[in-house]
Amino acid sequence: MAIPLLLAQLLLAVALAAVQAAPGLHPVVLVPGYGTNELDARLTELYQPSSPGCGARKGEGWFRLYLNYSALQDPANVPCFAEQMSSVYDPAADDYSNVAGVETRVPFFGSTQAFRYPDPDRKNFSYMSTFVERLEKMGYRDGETMFGAPYDFRYAVAPVGRPSSIGDAFFRALKGLVERASGLNGGRPVVIATHSFGGQLAHQFLVRQTRAWRQQFVRRFVPIAASWGGVVLGMLTLVSGNNMGLPFVEPRALLRQGRSLQTSLWILPSPAAFGTATPLATTKSRNYSAGDVADYLVAIGFGEAVGPYESRVLPLFGGELPHPGVPVTSVIGVGVGTPERIDYPRDDFDATPSVVAGDGDGVVNLASLVAVQTPWSRHGGDFTLVKVSNMSHNDLLVDDRALDIIVREIQRAD
Ligand SMILES: *[C@@H]1O[C@H](CO)[C@@H](O)[C@H](O)[C@H]1NC(C)=O
Ligand SMILES: *[C@@H]1O[C@H](CO)[C@@H](O)[C@H](O)[C@H]1NC(C)=O
Ligand SMILES: *[C@@H]1O[C@H](CO)[C@@H](O)[C@H](O)[C@H]1NC(C)=O
Ligand SMILES: *[C@@H]1O[C@H](CO)[C@@H](O)[C@H](O)[C@H]1NC(C)=O
Repeated sequence: MAIPLLLAQLLLAVALAAVQAAPGLHPVVLVPGYGTNELDARLTELYQPSSPGCGARKGEGWFRLYLNYSALQDPANVPCFAEQMSSVYDPAADDYSNVAGVETRVPFFGSTQAFRYPDPDRKNFSYMSTFVERLEKMGYRDGETMFGAPYDFRYAVAPVGRPSSIGDAFFRALKGLVERASGLNGGRPVVIATHSFGGQLAHQFLVRQTRAWRQQFVRRFVPIAASWGGVVLGMLTLVSGNNMGLPFVEPRALLRQGRSLQTSLWILPSPAAFGTATPLATTKSRNYSAGDVADYLVAIGFGEAVGPYESRVLPLFGGELPHPGVPVTSVIGVGVGTPERIDYPRDDFDATPSVVAGDGDGVVNLASLVAVQTPWSRHGGDFTLVKVSNMSHNDLLVDDRALDIIVREIQRAD
């Protein structure tokens, strides 16, 4: 009797191991939000630093440009960071590129290691780690059933047919990653889950694939806190700068850098989400709605952005966004005060404005979060909107109440 019993136990153990190895999870590919993943840089001989200190790493090989939290705590390093994180729009080429002599790369493509912590030496500054750990507790394994799609968040893509070398390369890599994730899991289609800006990007990716490809490889799209129609804050940061959530960095020190990025134009409020009647920014003698963004750019002294805004951004976001062609669950936070109108007291933009708050997740306005609800529900489109009350943009990825909903949607059987 002893031997068969042992054998039975052994077989049971083997069977259990097999169940654990193939837990029936659909692979998940995570696309993080703006400023969430690491970026490496190296400075070549072509780099002309504005001060000798900024050129200290010239010729020294790759280093972590984003994020080195402790380096940015030293105000002397902030101008170097701003210079090296800037990009340049070339109107003749109609494309964006890095500053001359600054080469960049996105490390750990394919792995969630790329964005668990933007600075692995400062683990208490993170947007994604709690969410990734939660997926691991459910049985997801990095590189097996769970994959990360980090990207150079300074760049986006252009409308089809216009140059966008860096964004296009990301889309090719993302396509390969989705196919690999599916292939490693017996051909199961993947769930693409995104946060914030990653949702706008993944949506553009999906609508550029064929219907056959989407049906074969994508099971569900789960955008979390996606800024479909941009954010009113995007108008403010083009005047005041954006410190990327680093409390000790003076936003204005990153103003020029922020203005140089294609992404900064992508997050401007769109007429489709905000309409053309509601003032989003006001001065003493002028109101600017989402339909007046070009005039606003001129008024704030950033007229050179009008060309790329009108040719590369409005064609993508000026009208209703097309359904991405796969089942969608959009998870949003609401009930948190969110900048909805910026009032400049005079006709210039130098004085500190007063900011009127409305509903949203603290960063993304409600109008933007729900902008796709009507068009994507039409004609029986497969679309579910889940609103999490009193939940902020970043808490959606941390709070148990929100994560319970998100993982339920990721695991949902169709
Ligand atoms: C971060 O910056 C500090 C201070 O400049 C430097 O000593 C350190 O080597 C940097 N870390 C990385 C990973 O580059
Ligand atoms: C984060 O960690 C650093 C050291 O790694 C510590 O000095 C700092 O106080 C921590 N911040 C918070 C908010 O816990
Ligand atoms: C701006 O809009 C507000 C309310 O929508 C209106 O009362 C005000 O007259 C407008 N101001 C200008 C200068 O058009
Ligand atoms: C909303 O969330 C905040 C912070 O988590 C909490 O302090 C507050 O009590 C909540 N309010 C409601 C109405 O749930």
